[in-house]
Amino acid sequence: MDLTIFKASPFLNRLLSHTLISLFLLLSLFTINHTFSLLSFPFTFPQLSNGRLDDCDYSDGKWVFNGGSDQYYSEECPFIDPGFLCRFNGRKDINYLQWRWKPQRCNLPRFNATMMLEKSKNKRILFVGDSIGRNQWESLLCMLWIGIANQSRVYEKYGSPISKHKGSLIIFFKDYNLTIEYYRAPFLVAIGRPPPNSPTIVHKAIYVDMPHWESKKWVGADVVVFNAGHWWNDDKTLKSGNYFQIGNKINMTMDVKEAYRNAIRTIKQWADENLLHRKSFVFFRSFSQAHYSNGTWDTGGSCDNETIPNTEEKKLRSEPWSNGVISEVMKKEGENKKVRFLNITYLTEQRSDGHPSKYMEQPTRAVDAIQDCSHWCLPGVPDTWNEILWAHLLSMGYGT
Ligand SMILES: *[C@@H]1O[C@H](CO)[C@@H](O)[C@H](O)[C@H]1NC(C)=O
Ligand SMILES: *[C@@H]1O[C@H](CO)[C@@H](O)[C@H](O)[C@H]1NC(C)=O
Ligand SMILES: *[C@@H]1O[C@H](CO)[C@@H](O)[C@H](O)[C@H]1NC(C)=O
Ligand SMILES: *[C@@H]1O[C@H](CO)[C@@H](O)[C@H](O)[C@H]1NC(C)=O
Ligand SMILES: *[C@@H]1O[C@H](CO)[C@@H](O)[C@H](O)[C@H]1NC(C)=O
Ligand SMILES: *[C@@H]1O[C@H](CO)[C@@H](O)[C@H](O)[C@H]1NC(C)=O
Ligand SMILES: *[C@@H]1O[C@H](CO)[C@@H](O)[C@H](O)[C@H]1NC(C)=O
Repeated sequence: MDLTIFKASPFLNRLLSHTLISLFLLLSLFTINHTFSLLSFPFTFPQLSNGRLDDCDYSDGKWVFNGGSDQYYSEECPFIDPGFLCRFNGRKDINYLQWRWKPQRCNLPRFNATMMLEKSKNKRILFVGDSIGRNQWESLLCMLWIGIANQSRVYEKYGSPISKHKGSLIIFFKDYNLTIEYYRAPFLVAIGRPPPNSPTIVHKAIYVDMPHWESKKWVGADVVVFNAGHWWNDDKTLKSGNYFQIGNKINMTMDVKEAYRNAIRTIKQWADENLLHRKSFVFFRSFSQAHYSNGTWDTGGSCDNETIPNTEEKKLRSEPWSNGVISEVMKKEGENKKVRFLNITYLTEQRSDGHPSKYMEQPTRAVDAIQDCSHWCLPGVPDTWNEILWAHLLSMGYGT
């Protein structure tokens, strides 16, 4: 089910349109396969050499209370979807803003907007995926926006209001000739009409061997962060009549996991062919955990009683199967020093307190409306993903 939510944002008037219509989707939970192993991860040690950060395993660590002293931006940032403005929407506790991610064996460098802007001159940075990718895109926009002296020189390239977008938005940082772009592609691959004579239960075909129709526009990107996960479940595919197609044939027996593997392989190959011969950096972001208790996203599941991170190891869930598929495909298809797995699952698993829950969209929210325990409040957890993204880029020699 898609949920369309409308609200006027007072913050957006200055730069964009009067009304910001956000469309986002509450996502169903995934199926879990028990492939998680805390012991199997190879650790490397970070050092600062020649001004470059060496590799570090940022995926493993813990949340440390810091009183909110290093929040990068506030809810005044004009790019935040109203559904993510938790304080504006009535959330009173501020504890969720007061934690910093501390990797096990190294420090996560503080994000430096000026430095990233300078290293990103004449570049295109893309987020491609579902609405949680958009969540991360908005976070990065805000983290960079505070580094701009004249903020009226940051705007949507074609004047599109952030509302009513059909699937892509391009925010232009004029002073740096930099664009930060979002492409909505929850499956990453193309979706279309099934071939004629398909069984009547087939409504749509997900072409797992063909990149999304918009992929032509991704060519020439300098950084791409792909994500896909929350739509890859039975409910949003097979049970909704969306079957998987390879070549010109629907495959009625292919399951979601196999289809996902094909899709990730398709995108990885596409990236190898279309991006990597340039100076591009490619990331596949891992699954962002959702936290519904006492129900699911569409049956009244909730998370509004969560106000501190859950760090109890024994209460943490196993890693979702989709992570295993991504890392396996990356290995099989040839690891490349320009392609990385951005593994943020474990840090999100602990942040049951970071979701909008019932503070999503006050004006339209019915008293007993469902809660959003899938997306994240901004400022919030995706800021950490972008700190990690930045740390990776530095270690990969970005902008040098
Ligand atoms: C992701 O990171 C977690 C925490 O370090 C780790 O346990 C897990 O194995 C990683 N996943 C993959 C697929 O590498
Ligand atoms: C951020 O980066 C800029 C440009 O490289 C540098 O001048 C500044 O000192 C850095 N700020 C901090 C706090 O490190
Ligand atoms: C701005 O950046 C684009 C690449 O994103 C490049 O093609 C173009 O030449 C740049 N414009 C200027 C004036 O440098
Ligand atoms: C900010 O940029 C806009 C557009 O380029 C310009 O019209 C305005 O004068 C600038 N404001 C300041 C304070 O420099
Ligand atoms: C459908 O996909 C399954 C799983 O990948 C595979 O075993 C099977 O051979 C495929 N069927 C056809 C008709 O291609
Ligand atoms: C869980 O759901 C049941 C039935 O809808 C409700 O009575 C109960 O109060 C809920 N518990 C919590 C902690 O929300
Ligand atoms: C919130 O309520 C759910 C459902 O009753 C429960 O499982 C969870 O432990 C509670 N969380 C906290 C922090 O009390």
